Amino acid sequence: MILIKNSQTFNALIKEKKAKNLKIGFVPTMGALHAGHLSLIKSARQKCDIVVCSIFVNPTQFNVASDLTNYPRPIEKDIQLLVHEGCDILFHPEVDEIYGNGLVKDSSSDFGSFIHLLEGASRPGHFDGVITIVKKLFQLCEPKEVFFGQKDYQQCLVVETLIQRNFPNIVFNLCPILREEDGLAMSSRNIRLSAEERKISYKIYKELKNLKDNWQTQQWEIALKNAKHILNEAPFKLEYLSVCNAKTFDSIDNFEENAIALVAVQLGNTRLIDNILL
Ligand code: PAJ
Repeated sequence: MILIKNSQTFNALIKEKKAKNLKIGFVPTMGALHAGHLSLIKSARQKCDIVVCSIFVNPTQFNVASDLTNYPRPIEKDIQLLVHEGCDILFHPEVDEIYGNGLVKDSSSDFGSFIHLLEGASRPGHFDGVITIVKKLFQLCEPKEVFFGQKDYQQCLVVETLIQRNFPNIVFNLCPILREEDGLAMSSRNIRLSAEERKISYKIYKELKNLKDNWQTQQWEIALKNAKHILNEAPFKLEYLSVCNAKTFDSIDNFEENAIALVAVQLGNTRLIDNILL
């Protein structure tokens, strides 16, 4: 695997590969890689000639300073994992390399009303930061296909919208959520959970699954009410649990095709998100 920190060197290598007609697959990440991230690398490996991963903890998408400072950065371990998965190129720039001297963000305000809901409402400015970095990375990597996890479902909608607008030739791949044995969605933040918190964190997926099992029955509204109650009992603090249309995020009162349940909870000091297509 080739490790590159410089943008120009990275883009020059990409252009060299593209001149040989090789198909570039791209997996952007913030590192602290786990099996969920690696499943995206595997999908890219299956569909593309050259697999590119980026590791960049993007400061403009964090709206809580301590979250950025505390974000895990085990780069040596990440490199080993990527080599093991057969990744070809790792782009791992410093902040200055990407942003120069100013952390200037693009605006996502005209991306459609869904962008202001849920994560958009809970984390003001977050998606502006995501759009800014994803756009920069796509410009440097010039991928044919990109791979994103359903775990960050709203982010997937944002990236799909960005692709429609700015990169119509890129193929977007939505990859399934990888979970721990008890159902907890894998996340770089899970290591921050205390042993006690980790033990009860399975409840998040359990309640989503229960909603799915009761969807199409008379019971789903009761299931939703129960889930909201359980996921708001200490040490959980519910930020949102929304059942809505999977494309527009319009809320749903009755059974509807193409629906999704999305949740964000605070468990102790750790914020966790998950979702399930109904
Ligand atoms: P990060 O949180 O590192 O996630 C990188 C990619 O891995 C995202 O597409 C995310 O949805 C996917 N992922 C995370 N957990 C997963 C799981 N349990 N199963 C499957 N896929 C999973 O998302 C970001 O970084 C950043 O916002 C980024 C897009 C890199 C822009 O900075």
